Amino acid sequence: MDIRINVDSIAPFVNKNIEKKLIEEAVEANKSLYEKTGKGNDFLGWVNLPLLVNESDITEIEVVSQNLREIADVIIVTGIGGSYLGAKAVIEALHSSFDAYVERNNPKIIFAGHHLDEDYLAEMLDFIENKSVACIVISKSGTTTEPAVAFRIIKRHIEQRYGKTGAKERIVAITDHSRGALRKLAEQEGYRTFVIPDDVGGRFSILTPVGLLPISVAGIDIRILLKGATDMEKASDTGIAASENICLRYAVARNLLYNSGKKIEIFANYNPKLHYLTEWWKQLFGESEGKEGKGIFPAGVDFTSDLHSMGQYIQEGERILFETVISIKKPHEELVVPEDAENLDQLNFLAGKRISEVNRMAELGTMLAHVDGGVPNIRIEIPELNPYVIGQLIYFFEKSCGISGYLLGVNPFDQPGVEAYKKNMFALLGKAGYESEGEKLRERIK
Ligand code: PA5
Repeated sequence: MDIRINVDSIAPFVNKNIEKKLIEEAVEANKSLYEKTGKGNDFLGWVNLPLLVNESDITEIEVVSQNLREIADVIIVTGIGGSYLGAKAVIEALHSSFDAYVERNNPKIIFAGHHLDEDYLAEMLDFIENKSVACIVISKSGTTTEPAVAFRIIKRHIEQRYGKTGAKERIVAITDHSRGALRKLAEQEGYRTFVIPDDVGGRFSILTPVGLLPISVAGIDIRILLKGATDMEKASDTGIAASENICLRYAVARNLLYNSGKKIEIFANYNPKLHYLTEWWKQLFGESEGKEGKGIFPAGVDFTSDLHSMGQYIQEGERILFETVISIKKPHEELVVPEDAENLDQLNFLAGKRISEVNRMAELGTMLAHVDGGVPNIRIEIPELNPYVIGQLIYFFEKSCGISGYLLGVNPFDQPGVEAYKKNMFALLGKAGYESEGEKLRERIK
C-alpha cells in the first residue's frame, strides 16, 4: 500500500493494557462490516463498493461527464453534506490551486446548495450570467432544503436561458431510485438521472455517482481513483493480519487515545489542497461517531497557516487533544528558495533548499513540539497527491470510521441528531404540520 501509518508517538499517552482487547474488538468489527452483523447493517453497501462498480457504470458516468464538459464552461454541483464534500475534497486535492485545469480545457466546477447564504447565490448568478452552464443536482433523500432551494434558482436560470429542452441536456440529477421530491421532479422534467444505492449513506457515497460524476467532469480519471479504493479494500479485508491492516490500526490508535482522555482529534495537513479533505473527514467521523453522548470531536487545521492561530492552543491549551497529520512525501513541482546577495531578510541559510524541505522541517519540528507539549501524533504518510492515492485514502478513512464507530459502540451509519435543526427551521419558517412547534419556538426567540 502507498499509505503508511505511524503511531509511535502515542505510546506514552495510552493505557497499553487495553490495547490487545481493542485490537480483538477491531478485528471483530471489521468482520461484522463484511458479514453485516453490526449496528446499521442496512447501510454497508460502501464496504464492497469499489469492487462492485462495474465497467458499464463507469462508462455511463464517463459518457454523461463528457457531454457536460462539451456543452458547459461552468458546472454547478448542487448538494450538501455527503452529497457535496467528497467531490469537493477530491477536486481541490487534485486541481491546481489556481485552477490551471480551466486552461487545460476543463470546465470550472462550482458548488451550490451547501448553505443558505443569499449573497452567495446572487453572486453565483452574476458569475454564470455570460457563461455556458450545466448543473449536477445531488440529494439522496431528495428533500434536503439547502440544495432544493439552490436548485430551484439554478433550474429557473437554466430554463430561462436554454428552455425546457435545453435544461434536459444541461441538468443531471443524482438521487434515490424511487423516493423523494428530486426523483419525482427529475422524472417529470425528463432529466438524466443516476441512482444512489439504498444501502450507501450520504457520507459514504463518494464512490457512487455522487462523487464520481462531479470528479469526472473535473477531468480526473475516476478509474484510477476507484483502483486506489479497490486496492485499499483488499488491503483491509478480514484476511489481512491486524498488524498489517492500517484501517484497523488507525481505528485502534484513536480509540486508545479517546479512552485516555484525548477527546478531540485535530486533523492536520501541510498542504492547502487538503483543506476540503479535512472537511470531508470531519463529516465522516463527526456524523458517524458523535452520538449517545460519546465520540471524538473531529477538528481540522491547515498548517503551517494555523500554527499562527491555533498553534498556541495546541501547544499549551487543555490537554484533551491528539493530532492526525497527513504527510505528503513529494510535491509535484520543484521550487527552491533563491540566494540573495544582500540577505536583508537573513534567509540565505535556506538558499538552494526546496520549499518542500522547509515545509517538511516545519512538520517534523511541530510534531516533536506538540508531542513534548502533551499532544500525541498519528502520522498518515502518502507518497504524493494523485487519483490513485486519493482513492486509497477515501477507502482507508471509510473503513477506519466503520471500525472505530463499532469500537465506540454506536451505530456509525445513522445521523438522528441532524433532524433537530431541520424541525426547528421548518417550524420557524411556517411549514405546514409544524404550526404548534413554531409558536413555541417563536416565544423563545422574542
Ligand atoms: O451523511 C449524510 O447522510 C448526510 O450528511 C447527507 O449527505 C446530507 O444531509 C445530505 O442529504 P441528501 O443527500 O439527502 O440531500
